[in-house]
Order: sequence, then C-alpha cells, then structure tokens
Amino acid sequence: MRRMRFRAAAWAVLMVSVAAHGALPAHFADATDKIQVTAGKRIYRQRCASCHGRQLQGQPLWQLQDPFERRRAPAHDASGHTWEHSDEALFHMTKYGRFSDSPRGVRSYMPAFAGSLDDSQILAVIAFIKARWPLGLRVSQSLLNPGYAGMPANARSAEWTFPPTCITSAQRWRAVSR
Ligand code: HEC
Repeated sequence: MRRMRFRAAAWAVLMVSVAAHGALPAHFADATDKIQVTAGKRIYRQRCASCHGRQLQGQPLWQLQDPFERRRAPAHDASGHTWEHSDEALFHMTKYGRFSDSPRGVRSYMPAFAGSLDDSQILAVIAFIKARWPLGLRVSQSLLNPGYAGMPANARSAEWTFPPTCITSAQRWRAVSR
C-alpha cells in the first residue's frame, strides 16, 4: 500500500516535469515505431550481432574484470547496461565508437559506424534494441532523455518494476575499489 502511494506520488512529479520539459532530444529512437524497429532488427543482425550477440546477450564473459575487460561487447538486453544511457549517448556511441564523455585516454574497442550507417539507420538499430527491453527498463531509460522521450504510454496502467540496479555494478565496484 505504501509502495503504491509512493508510486502515485512519483508519477505525479514525473508528469509535471514532462509537461515542463516538453522538447524532444536531438536524437531520439522510437521503439514504438514498428517500421523503424523492423529496419533496426535487420541492421542489428548484419552489423552488431557478431559482437553483441544475436539475442543481445553480449559476448561470453563480458562482465569479467580482467585484462580483456571492455574489449568484449556487453549485452544490450536487460542483463547489460545499455539502458543506463540516454538516446543521445547511445547514438553518439554507435556513431563514433565512444561516449562523448569518455575520458580522452580511454581506448574503446567499439567500432565507429559513422562511415557505414547514416543517422536514421543508427536510430533504427537503437530503436530495435530499446524495443526488446521490459517495461521497467524502458521507463528507467526514458527518464534519461530530455522531456522523458520514449516514456511508454502504458507505464501508468501496467505492472512493472525498476531494474534491480539503477547504477551499474561496474561503476559501483570502481567507486569502492579505488
Ligand atoms: C567488433 C565488435 C563490435 C561490433 C560489431 C559492435 N560493437 Fe558495440 N561494443 C563493442 C565493445 C567491445 C563495446 C564496449 C566498449 C567499451 O566499453 O569501451 C561496445 C559497446 C557498445 C555500446 C555501449 C554499451 C554500454 O552500455 O556501455 C553500444 C550502445 C553499442 N556498443 C552499440 C553497438 C551497435 C548499435 C552496433 C551495431 C551497429 C555495435 N555496437 C557493433 C563491440 C562491438
């Protein structure tokens, strides 16, 4: 009961902020656009699946903290941390092979697709990835977008839970092991 009330209150705050923000981000991948998602699925199979896995499961042992850490492609499904980035960040990562806020010295093993996929193809593949997430992940990730773009329409009526980790275990680990 208390949880329900908390959720109702959180929802009210959220909706007021959505109204206040309004604007869509510069790059937004619409997971409810079936045509985009279908196009993205094809691109994913051809360009991403070899590393990130056909079922978005990531390369084997991608979570391991060893000398090959960050060389293995992480999962894009609910077991990964792709959902902890905004659409803009995912777009930038796919286009340039690194996050815009990655420290300069950090090497990334993710290829840049700027030369082989155009912006709409990049957004399509991100839309496909997002469309595979359960509702709680979709809600969480949309909170990172300006105007909470991509907030699922049924977020209020359906049952969902937030993902078990709202900060990646890896980030937490780095913070404590410093
Ligand atoms: C050659 C292997 C390879 C291919 C092909 C590849 N990736 Fe990656 N990707 C990686 C690796 C390795 C990382 C981890 C990079 C890091 O942590 O620095 C990564 C990370 C990412 C991330 C960041 C995930 C996160 O939560 O940090 C995104 C988003 C991503 N890839 C999207 C894509 C998309 C979309 C495609 C297809 C268009 C693709 N990748 C194709 C290897 C690949």
